[in-house]
Amino acid sequence: MRKNIVAGNWKMNKTLQEGLALATELNAALANVTPNCDVVIGTPFIHLASITAAIDTNKIGVAAENCADKKSGAYTGEVSAEMVASTGAKYVILGHSERRAYYGETSAILKDKVALALENGLTPIFCIGEVLEEREAGKHFDVVKTQIEEALFNLSAEDFGKIILAYEPVWAIGTGKTATPEQAQEMHAFIRKTIADKYGKEVADNTSILYGGSCNAGNAKELFSNPDVDGGLIGGASLKADSFMTIINAF
Ligand code: 13P
Repeated sequence: MRKNIVAGNWKMNKTLQEGLALATELNAALANVTPNCDVVIGTPFIHLASITAAIDTNKIGVAAENCADKKSGAYTGEVSAEMVASTGAKYVILGHSERRAYYGETSAILKDKVALALENGLTPIFCIGEVLEEREAGKHFDVVKTQIEEALFNLSAEDFGKIILAYEPVWAIGTGKTATPEQAQEMHAFIRKTIADKYGKEVADNTSILYGGSCNAGNAKELFSNPDVDGGLIGGASLKADSFMTIINAF
């Protein structure tokens, strides 16, 4: 059966020293407890190697927040999936709405990134979600379905089974305007049905679907209590150990 997962996305926050301090604080907080979910932290590229060396990666998985859509070569400034894997990171966040909106990431690009991540043994945490205008126009289900179809439905059932999805309505990211538990459940159930229609019920039932967008210590429990919400992808509230631990302990 699918796993419950609480994953942090630090975005472009924290110096290396600050990041190491937060990671070691989380590591200490989790040292003598077994949470009821998998724990992942997504950090800037330059933090990855230092953080994986400083923590128990069996307890806290480490994620990159992106990887290149090319294997290797003359792509100045890019970081490949192989390089990410070589740091000891096991996950990569792909398709975040900030990358789609600010860095022009299309489904075609994301398809290549997903393929390279999987080739290098990384687990993609693949983000999908509609903007406010799309929800207000009643197009949110179609938008999310298309995002999944275009970037992921070329995968074999076996490879699709390695993907973690994160539904992040763009209007809820960093706005303090969380989706209601009903809105989250409704979309997560729709996503699971979309997967079932393509790959069958077993694959769909085994896929973890996280919610992201102003999920915090105060609302995580209610969001996670929905049958199709298998955890969270947490931005702002993952930047402090105490709020992130409260979200982990919501399971
Ligand atoms: P916030 O939790 O800050 O709204 O960010 C959510 C997010 O984008 C996680 O990827």
